[in-house]
Amino acid sequence: MQKLIFATNNQHKVEEIRALLGKRFQIVTLAEAGIHIDIPEPYDTLEQNAREKAMTIYRLTGISCFGEDTGLETMALNGDPGVKSARYAGDERDFAANTQKLLNMLEGKTNRSARFRTVISLCLNGTEHLFEGACEGQIADIPRGDKGFGYDPVFIPLNSNRTFAEMDLAEKNQYSHRGKAMEQLVRFLLNQQNY
Ligand code: IMP
Repeated sequence: MQKLIFATNNQHKVEEIRALLGKRFQIVTLAEAGIHIDIPEPYDTLEQNAREKAMTIYRLTGISCFGEDTGLETMALNGDPGVKSARYAGDERDFAANTQKLLNMLEGKTNRSARFRTVISLCLNGTEHLFEGACEGQIADIPRGDKGFGYDPVFIPLNSNRTFAEMDLAEKNQYSHRGKAMEQLVRFLLNQQNY
């Protein structure tokens, strides 16, 4: 089985991706690879941040790897929090504070349309390949559910009346931005001769 490093310290994302991939690939986390760094996300686009994560780890290890960056974009706030989603309420990257700030910013707005967008940068033997997935939905009036992470308690995907935090991993993956981007990544990898 081919080994791929997933350049993240977010255990929730690792679990989502392992649930999606089953036994097809061996996904190694940064901690499992013995890498204990917090990779910066300094850029204004998801693409550049995803690339920075993948390239940083490839340069360190020489092992093929992928990084991803995700943003929650709302219509009423002209795309905010977008690429700033992780630090919307401050550098502490506090999920509850970010979610509360989003609800405050949307108070009184009738348009609650939003979408999650994920970009994955795969660095395969030194060459980059990009994949993208999006999930359209609505921001709920109050948080609901205790599963998942981040903005999950307030995000209701299109064609559902439940938030991501009310769904188990398999169900969230059917709708989710990251699930869609990962499907493309897997399809690409399965078409590579070495995989
Ligand atoms: P990053 O990709 O780790 O920088 O994530 C940006 C922000 O979006 C973080 O605050 C995450 O908690 C949040 N986020 C990323 N993916 C998801 C998701 O699938 N559900 C809810 N929040 C998410």
